[in-house]
Amino acid sequence: MSGPSPNQQSIERYRRHAAGYDASARRTMALRLRTIALLRLRPGDVVLDIGAGTGQSYAPLLQAVGPQGRVLAFEQSPEMFSKAEQRVQQHGWQRVWHCRAAAEAVQLPEPVDALLFNYVHDITRSPQAVANLLRQARPGARVAMAGMKYFPWWTGPLNLLAWLKNRPYNAHAADLWHPWDLVQARCDRFERQSTQAGMGYIAHGHMR
Ligand SMILES: C[S@@+](CC[C@H](N)C(=O)[O-])C[C@H]1O[C@@H](n2cnc3c(N)ncnc32)[C@H](O)[C@@H]1O
Repeated sequence: MSGPSPNQQSIERYRRHAAGYDASARRTMALRLRTIALLRLRPGDVVLDIGAGTGQSYAPLLQAVGPQGRVLAFEQSPEMFSKAEQRVQQHGWQRVWHCRAAAEAVQLPEPVDALLFNYVHDITRSPQAVANLLRQARPGARVAMAGMKYFPWWTGPLNLLAWLKNRPYNAHAADLWHPWDLVQARCDRFERQSTQAGMGYIAHGHMR
């Protein structure tokens, strides 16, 4: 008998993380803003927030796309999405369209000019998810990504730390060597840097 799918595992994990997520994500706000800046959003753009969690990126994305732009987003965890929904209602944001859905199946209401993959490791490791999302983007759409990765191989046991930190959140916890590569394969001018002393990465490119 096969065990729970990666999606089911992830939903279970975020059931536990949802209550404390916003407090724990506060310390990575600078990195989030840096990743969003790499999208070079312009007034009127339509931007997709992938695996949006509790919607922490909505405010800076809305600010960047201006009054004519739109933020599209989706999230599969019921508990995380309910927090994103509360955020939208509290602020009365009319220019956010979001839904509870899996990346592998979500259908967007319009094509997007830019895609944000902020700490969505299980999505970046799912070929079906990456294919489904990128097919709904305009040619030349900008992509920005950030997440965890392994330290260089020669650091050896340090990677136990990376795996242990990743495991409570992600079903594909051990797949940390090149978490960007499925997206990179669909992009031109893809550039990447290490963050967090080598345990993270930030990257951007343009879809072909
Ligand atoms: C570390 S959180 C990041 C949330 C958000 N991107 C942020 O920057 O705060 C990862 C999120 O991806 C969601 N997720 C994981 N796999 C998913 C999938 N296949 N489809 C949709 N959401 C998924 C999780 O439920 C979780 O909310």
